[in-house]
Amino acid sequence: MRLVATGVTYTYPRGDHQVLAGVDFDIPPGTSAAIIGPSGSGKTTLLSLMGHLLPMQAGSIHALDDSGNELRLRDTASWVLQTVSLLPDRTALDNVMVGAYSAGASRPDAVARSREALASVGLAGRDDEPARILSGGEAQRVAIARALASQRPIILADEPTGQLDAKTSATVLEAMIGAHGERTVVVVTHDPEVAERCDVVLELRDGVIHERARA
Ligand SMILES: Nc1ncnc2c1ncn2[C@@H]1O[C@H](COP(=O)(O)OP(=O)(O)OP(=O)(O)O)[C@@H](O)[C@H]1O
Ligand SMILES: [Mg+2]
Repeated sequence: MRLVATGVTYTYPRGDHQVLAGVDFDIPPGTSAAIIGPSGSGKTTLLSLMGHLLPMQAGSIHALDDSGNELRLRDTASWVLQTVSLLPDRTALDNVMVGAYSAGASRPDAVARSREALASVGLAGRDDEPARILSGGEAQRVAIARALASQRPIILADEPTGQLDAKTSATVLEAMIGAHGERTVVVVTHDPEVAERCDVVLELRDGVIHERARA
């Protein structure tokens, strides 16, 4: 799925400045893109617009399938938010199954897919633990597994590796990209190693995107 943004601007209703001042990008299908930029530069705002959590003020963001049909991100993407939200009294597996069920999986399918997703983020064998006893980084990985279990062609993730060590970050990023690299992945990150592993790096600065050539 290709991901295209054109002329996206955003000013918070009570904000004193325009956070996004004309964001453009064109991310080819099956590409992993890192969005980097200083704290407060508008990365979460951009992801929130992509997730329909904020209303668009100007410009557009949409997905395009192989035939060039425009699709809403709401129907094609899954999200990993900066603040992790899990059902605390349910198990890790139950939490991930929410993702599989949202995609219409049957129970046996949902269980199989969810176990696989948990294993892919390094949490094999932790299926039956209640979410409330997990560490911050483990909870974050359950949220990522939940997004993976929905098997949508696009993943949008806000600092998904913020609480992870370098080795676990690499595992998680590989899991998001997928074995065949078929998924389009957008990762907001402050971690240069994560950015380095992505196909493209988009830097958000002064409200616009500067595409960075990688070394
Ligand atoms: N609800 C809000 N009302 C007014 N201003 C806001 C609101 N939410 C965010 N902002 C402002 O918008 C700007 C961009 O915030 P945003 O959360 O998108 O930054 P960010 O790049 O994700 O930062 P970080 O790396 O710290 O997560 C900041 O100046 C912030 O203060
Ligand atoms: Mg943010």
